[in-house]
Amino acid sequence: MDKNLLKETAQKMVARGKGILAADESHPTCGKRFEALGIENTSENRRIYRQMFFNSPDVEKYISGVILFDETLRQSDDAGVPFPENLNAKGLVPGIKVDTGAKDLAGFPGEKVTEGLDGLRDRLAEYFELGARFAKWRAVITIGDGIPSEGCYMANAHALARYARLCQEASIVPIVEPEVLMDGDHDIDVCDRVTTNALHLTFRQLEEQDVMLEGIVLKPSMIIPGTGAAAAGRDVVASRTVDCLKRTVPDAVPGIAFLSGGQSDEDATGHLDAMNKLGGHPWNLTFSYGRALQATAMKTWAGKAENLAAASAAFMQRARSNAAASTGEWDQTLEQSAS
Ligand code: 13P
Repeated sequence: MDKNLLKETAQKMVARGKGILAADESHPTCGKRFEALGIENTSENRRIYRQMFFNSPDVEKYISGVILFDETLRQSDDAGVPFPENLNAKGLVPGIKVDTGAKDLAGFPGEKVTEGLDGLRDRLAEYFELGARFAKWRAVITIGDGIPSEGCYMANAHALARYARLCQEASIVPIVEPEVLMDGDHDIDVCDRVTTNALHLTFRQLEEQDVMLEGIVLKPSMIIPGTGAAAAGRDVVASRTVDCLKRTVPDAVPGIAFLSGGQSDEDATGHLDAMNKLGGHPWNLTFSYGRALQATAMKTWAGKAENLAAASAAFMQRARSNAAASTGEWDQTLEQSAS
């Protein structure tokens, strides 16, 4: 366990004015998104699509690191350069998704627990050799009738902490991601209560498993009403989210990189910007978006070589806007000038 490397990597991931691209969709998830656009879900299509992000001109100005799926970590760019090397050459930190998915939690209908701890020590050693310097594990908390249960909170917090400690042993920074899903008709207060609980229990377990907080990055969801409830204003989401984090996240954590969770591109950007406009936070607040960075680019590409340059431009527009939001310097005119 190289503590200095862990701290340096974590700082690099949440460097001011930059954020993380989540491009670690599993084959089935990638397949669902490709299929909706008529794109064939082949290994080569996934390689070409993801290379488009990594090779976007000036990507290193706005993106600090990329979360990869196992397949991509082992693939190479058109010039034959392995993707981890391609990213390193631009100063982007390569990361790897290491969980094996959220599965039904036995005894708790409608709830999930994330799997992947078995054999993780050996996988992490190999991933370090392949160039990964951070990892991701996503826990899923569902809000519904009578849930989340105590059993679900605890099982997921414990697994996150065991994963995080194994990562640090391998000198790999763990992204700790307890996602509270937006699905449901619950209001913002319920989301706040559930997220507060999940974060409290997660940090308690991180402490019990002896995880060095200076060497993690937290990836939470925002405090937001369910998709079936009336929306809240961006300033409300921002202040409720920051208040929740202040109650639960120790100052020692270097940075918090949000997931987008199904928010629209502009909401994901606007919420992050509003949080950073509030200012004075002990941690850097930035993005680790998947859909909110990729959706427009994927649609623009549509699986056609002749659209790759336009897709890259669409991605860079989101990257630039979110980078501006990570310092509270985004405004609507940045979107208008682009379109
Ligand atoms: P979204 O931003 O699409 O929620 O994806 C982020 C992520 O990595 C989910 O695990």
